[in-house]
Amino acid sequence: MSLKLEDDVLPAYIYAAPPPAPRRRPKLARFVLLAIASYAVVRLWGLHLPWSHPPVYSPANVDKIIAQCRALPLVPTPPVGFAARTESDRFEPGTPPTLITNATIWLGGERVVVGELYMDGGVVMAIGYVPKELYANEPGVVVVNAREAWVTPGIVDLHSHLGVVSIPTLGGAADGNSVLGTVQPWLRSIDGLNTHDMAYTTSIAGGVTSALVLPGSADNIGGQAFMIKLRPTKERSSNAMVLEPPYALWNGTDVDPDAPPRWRHIKHACGENPARVYGQTRMDNVYRFRQAYTAAAALRDAQDSYCASALAGDWKQIADQSFPYDLALEALVDVLRGKVKVNVHCYEAVDFDGFVRITNEFKFPVAAFHHAHEAYLVPDLLKKTWGGAPAIAMFATFARYKREAYRGSEFAPKILADEGIPVVMKSDHPMPVDSRYLMYEAQQAFLYGLNSSLALASVTSTPAEAAGFAHRLGRLKVGHDADVVVWDSHPLQLGATPLQVYIDGIAQLSYGPVVVTENGFTHLSLKEKKSGDLQTVPSVADSEMEAQQVLAHDGEPPLGPKETYESEVLFTNVQSIWRRDSSEELFEQTLTADDGLSSREVLLHHGNIVCTGSCAHVAVSARIVDLHNGSIAPGLTTFGSSLGLVEIKFEPSTTDGYAYDLFANNAPAVLDGKPLRAVDGVQFGGKDMLMAYRSGVTTAISGPASPGFGLAGLSGAFRTGAWNKAEKGSVIQPVTAMHLVIGPKGQPSISAQVAGLRQLLSASKEGEIWWELSHGTVPLVLSVNNADIMSTVILLKHEIEAQFSSSMKLSFAGASEAWMIAKNIADAEIGVIIAPSRATPLEWPSRRTLPGPPLTEESNISLLLAHNVTVGIGVVWEWQTRNTRFDAIWAYREGGGKISKGQALALVSSNVEKVLGLHTSSDVGDLVAYRGGDFLSPGAKVVGVMSAERGVTDLF
Ligand SMILES: *[C@@H]1O[C@H](CO)[C@@H](O)[C@H](O)[C@H]1NC(C)=O
Ligand SMILES: *[C@@H]1O[C@H](CO)[C@@H](O)[C@H](O)[C@H]1NC(C)=O
Ligand SMILES: *[C@@H]1O[C@H](CO)[C@@H](O)[C@H](O)[C@H]1NC(C)=O
Ligand SMILES: *[C@@H]1O[C@H](CO)[C@@H](O)[C@H](O)[C@H]1NC(C)=O
Repeated sequence: MSLKLEDDVLPAYIYAAPPPAPRRRPKLARFVLLAIASYAVVRLWGLHLPWSHPPVYSPANVDKIIAQCRALPLVPTPPVGFAARTESDRFEPGTPPTLITNATIWLGGERVVVGELYMDGGVVMAIGYVPKELYANEPGVVVVNAREAWVTPGIVDLHSHLGVVSIPTLGGAADGNSVLGTVQPWLRSIDGLNTHDMAYTTSIAGGVTSALVLPGSADNIGGQAFMIKLRPTKERSSNAMVLEPPYALWNGTDVDPDAPPRWRHIKHACGENPARVYGQTRMDNVYRFRQAYTAAAALRDAQDSYCASALAGDWKQIADQSFPYDLALEALVDVLRGKVKVNVHCYEAVDFDGFVRITNEFKFPVAAFHHAHEAYLVPDLLKKTWGGAPAIAMFATFARYKREAYRGSEFAPKILADEGIPVVMKSDHPMPVDSRYLMYEAQQAFLYGLNSSLALASVTSTPAEAAGFAHRLGRLKVGHDADVVVWDSHPLQLGATPLQVYIDGIAQLSYGPVVVTENGFTHLSLKEKKSGDLQTVPSVADSEMEAQQVLAHDGEPPLGPKETYESEVLFTNVQSIWRRDSSEELFEQTLTADDGLSSREVLLHHGNIVCTGSCAHVAVSARIVDLHNGSIAPGLTTFGSSLGLVEIKFEPSTTDGYAYDLFANNAPAVLDGKPLRAVDGVQFGGKDMLMAYRSGVTTAISGPASPGFGLAGLSGAFRTGAWNKAEKGSVIQPVTAMHLVIGPKGQPSISAQVAGLRQLLSASKEGEIWWELSHGTVPLVLSVNNADIMSTVILLKHEIEAQFSSSMKLSFAGASEAWMIAKNIADAEIGVIIAPSRATPLEWPSRRTLPGPPLTEESNISLLLAHNVTVGIGVVWEWQTRNTRFDAIWAYREGGGKISKGQALALVSSNVEKVLGLHTSSDVGDLVAYRGGDFLSPGAKVVGVMSAERGVTDLF
C-alpha cells in the first residue's frame, strides 16, 4: 500500500508524512560534487576575500539550535536539591504553618510513626518529633491535635476526568473526548480544564489531593494529560492547578534547555472504545499505533541526524534545513525519547499483546495500563512490556459491563501484587467511581486480598511513582508537598472519612471552633474520630483459595454454591441471629455460651432453623460449619439495577431489551394497554446475580429496563440463588409495584409527563392497572431525583386521593434531593429508595445532593430516617448489587451512632421490600450465615444461605 493511497483514505487530520531525513548522495558523487563546489567557492571568494579567512557557514540562531539539540537526550529528573527545598513552587503566601500533634502517621510502605507532623511553605518540614525551635518563632502557627487519628499522604488519582468531564453534566462542559481523529497526540486536557467542576470540593472531601486528568478513550491516541492539584488557587485559572507543568506549556519556550525537562503524560487506548467510535477493529487499532510511531520514529531519526551535524559543527551538512519538527508528532517523539508517561486504556489479553508488541517494536515504556480487567490473567505478558511491567490501574469491583470487562475479578489486585506488579486503584471520575470514593476502591482491594500497605499505596505512592511525581507526592517525607489527610478512622475501614485535608499545606475543610492561645498559636479542633475499633486495620478473611480458583478457571470461576443440603446443616460458634418478628421488624437474638463450648449452635433442616442453642445432640449426621463467632441475618434485597434482565450491559444480545415507553406511544398494540411484568424477562444464573447471591443479596426486585422517562412496567421479586424459573421458590412475588420514570431527559417536558400521569390516574377505571395505583392496591414507584418534581408529585397524590377518597401507595426511587423535602415526604407517607446510596450530583436536576460527612453533618439517608421516612437503599448498575452490604456499612458508619444496626440492616432488606410492595414474612425470607463477624463487619464472609422456601441450605 503506497503512502498516497493511505492519504487518500485517511482524513486530513492524520498528521502529514514526516520530513524526509537528509538525503545522502553516493560517496563518489558527493566527492565529485564537493570538489566542484569547493572549486567554485574558491574561485568566487578568491575574488573578494583574503585566503587567510576560510569561509565558515553557520546559521544565525546557532545558539538556539545547539541548545535544542543538547536537550534532546535529557530525561526528566527532579531539579538538583529538590528534596532539600523549604518552600514549594505552589506555596500560597499567607498560608499559616501547621503543626499536627498526636497523630498516627502512615508514611508510605510499611512505616507508621506516632508523633507530630509540621508543614510550612507548602512542604512537609518535619515528621515524628518536631523540635520546638522549628516553629516557636513562626507567627501564626496552627496547632491541630489529631488525638491519635490516622494521617496519610493525600490521595493521588491516576485516572480522572475532573474538569474535562465536569459535573453536573452539561453539554457545554463535555471536553473529555475529541472524535475528530483516531490519533491526536497534540490534544491537551489542560485546554478543557473547567475550574468550576462541582467535584473538586467533593473529591477533596474524600481525601483526593491530586489527579492525573486524562483525555477520554475514544481515540487510539487521545491526547496529553496533566497532573493537577484539586484545591482552588488564588489565580482561579486552569493553568494554576497544574503540578510541575512541562516548562514549555506556558509560552512554548523551555526555561533552561540544559535543565532536565519535566514529565509529560499521554493517553492511549486499545480495544472496544476506539474501535467502536470509528467503526474500526482491533486490527485497525494496532495499525494506528504502528503508523503513528513509525512516523514519530522517522522524525526522531531526522532530528538526531540533524543534531549530530549541528553538535559536530558540520553546518554545511544541514545548511538548507531547520530543526526537523512537527507539532502533530512532537509528543510521540518525546515518548520515544523517554520523556512521556504513557497511560494506556487496555482491557483484554489480546489488547495487551498488541500494545506490548508495539512497545518492543518502538522501544518505549508504559507507565500504566488502565482498567486492565484481564491483566491478572497475563502477568508474564505484562512483564515483557519494553522497560518492564507497568503499573496496573484498576477498579475494585466495577466489571462485566462489557465484553472486555466480563472476566474482571475482585482478586486481580492481590494476584497482580503477588506477581510483583505495581497495583493502582483509580476512579475514572466521574464515572463509574466518583473520585471522592477512591479510598473505598482501595478498601475493597484490601478486603479481596491486597495487603494493607499495598492497598494504601495503591492510591498514594504507587500512582505517584507511575506518574513520575514520587519526588513530591504519595508519601509523607520531609521535603514532600504538604498534601496530608487526617482520617476519622483507619483509612481501610469502610466509611473512613477525612477530618481534614491539606493541599500544599492549606486546610481544605473549614470547621471550627478556632481558639487562639496566649502563645500566639491557633488551635484548630477536628470533628470526633470514630470509635476505637475502627482505628485499626479491619480483619479480613483469607482470599488465597478464591484467587487460585479464578486463575484456574481463566477468569470464570464457578460462582454457585459448592454444596447444597436439604438435610441438616449445623452452624457452630454463632454469636447472634437477626430475625424478623411477626410485624416484620428486625431484632437480634444473641446466643450465649452456657457451657462455654458448644451451645452457640444453629441447626437447619430443609433450609429452616429447627434448633438454636445446644443442637449438636439432635444433629447426628449434620454437615457442620464453624462460623468463627459469626452471625446469621436475613438475606439482603437489591433494587435499582436491571439485575436478571442484563448480563453484559453493553451487549444487547445478553439483555432483555428495553421496555416500551408510554410517552413515545410505542407500546405494541397486542398489549392492549396492559403493563408488562419484568419477571417474565428474568434470566437466572448470570454472573452479577450469583455474585450478589454469594455476597448475601438473596432477593432482587427488578423493574423493566427503561430507556428514559415514561412507563417502565411492573416489577417483580425473585431469588438470586435460583437456577431457573421452573424451580420452586425462584419467583418470590411476580408483581410488586408499577414503575414509572419521571425524568429530566428529553421530551416531553416534565409538565407534560406530570399531565400524563394525572390523566392516567384520574381517569382510571376499575379493572385497569391505573385504578389499582390510584387506590393504593398496587404501589406506584417513581424514579425521580429532583426535589421540585417530587414536590409536584406529592401534590398530585393529594389530588388523586381527594378525587377517589383513596390512599395511594407511592414511593420515590433515586431521590437524591429527597432530603430537601424530607418533612413533606414523611407527612405524605411516601417511602424512599435512595439509589445510589452515596450519590454524585452527575445531572443538573439532581445537583442538590446532600454530600454527607465531612461536608455536611447529615446524609440524605440519616436525614430521611430522622423524619421517620421508610428508607431503603438501592443501586444503579448490576455490578453494584454485590456491594449492597458494604453500602449498608457505609450508611451505618456515616450515621455516626444515629443509625442503629437494625436500621442499617432494614435499609437493605425489610425497608426495600416495604417501599416496593414485596410482602415477605419471617417464613419466606432467606437467611445468610456470615463467618468471622456479623453483617456489619466488612471482613465477615458469607458462607451459607438458608432458604426455607426453596427447602435448602447452600454453602459456598
Ligand atoms: C493524644 O490523643 C489521645 C487520644 O485522643 C488522648 O487521650 C491524649 O490525651 C492525647 N495526647 C495529647 C498530648 O494531647
Ligand atoms: C516563558 O515562560 C517562562 C516561565 O514559565 C519564563 O521563565 C520564560 O522567560 C518565558 N520565555 C519567554 C521567551 O517569554
Ligand atoms: C505487602 O506485600 C509487600 C510485597 O510483597 C511486602 O513487602 C509487605 O511486607 C507486605 N505488607 C504487609 C503489611 O503484609
Ligand atoms: C419519629 O419517631 C419517633 C419514635 O416514634 C418519634 O419520637 C419522633 O418524634 C419522630 N420524629 C419525627 C420527626 O416525626
